Amino acid sequence: MARVRPLIIGNWKMNPATVSQAGRVARGVAEALKGLTGEATVVVAPPTAFLTEVAESGAGRFLLGAQSVSPEEGGAYTGGTSVSMLRSLRVSHVIVGHSELRAKGLTDTEIARILEATVKGKLVGVLCVGECERDAQGQYFGIIENQLTSALAHIAQQDQSRVVIAYEPIWAIGTGVNATAGDIHEMQLFIQKVVADLWDRETATRVPILYGGSVSGDNAAELLKEGGVRGFLVGGASLRPREFSTIVKHAEHYARFA
Ligand code: PGA
Repeated sequence: MARVRPLIIGNWKMNPATVSQAGRVARGVAEALKGLTGEATVVVAPPTAFLTEVAESGAGRFLLGAQSVSPEEGGAYTGGTSVSMLRSLRVSHVIVGHSELRAKGLTDTEIARILEATVKGKLVGVLCVGECERDAQGQYFGIIENQLTSALAHIAQQDQSRVVIAYEPIWAIGTGVNATAGDIHEMQLFIQKVVADLWDRETATRVPILYGGSVSGDNAAELLKEGGVRGFLVGGASLRPREFSTIVKHAEHYARFA
């Protein structure tokens, strides 16, 4: 049986405040990961301004992620960062369609373009999907289905292996209230079914599905064991090196068997 490699991504969001603090956190993460088995893939996604510092301070202990990218190749796009710029900084993963950007007006159409540019550019796109709230009728499943369908519809077959899906219910992000393992498991199966309908069953079982939303050192073990996800997209706790490494340690332990 092949062991499925867990994936833990730390999203630092717009933290910390200075480059020297970013270096310190990255060194802390690198140090905290030292004692682990290395069986999990660990990605740290700092603000774009700190990518170089975090790469140097991380000393190769984790991969580098970006929190967003422009779908354009280059040119007159003030404030933009392109896929090739990220690749030249050795970034391997890009978070696409995070709910905090959706809330600021990022549309499904733009998200589809960003994901397409990311995977075409040979980076891994971590597509975030999630509902604002859960209704008794289960309409939130339709919301997730629409987000997935619009973002994945134009991904070429040869690029499908570079897609990761992160289920991040908005009500669980930064609130301290995580989805239950049962909710996560149910949604993981639903996402797999939508992907199977869009692409094919075989590919759908291979696409890593992560959970994000108030993941902590305390709940990671249970969410992995009962939730059936491949790993986590971690916000707040990813800035606390010890806690982040505890989450990685649980992921190594509870990695599912294929
Ligand atoms: P949180 O954030 O872990 O702080 O809830 C998760 C995210 O926004 O990716």
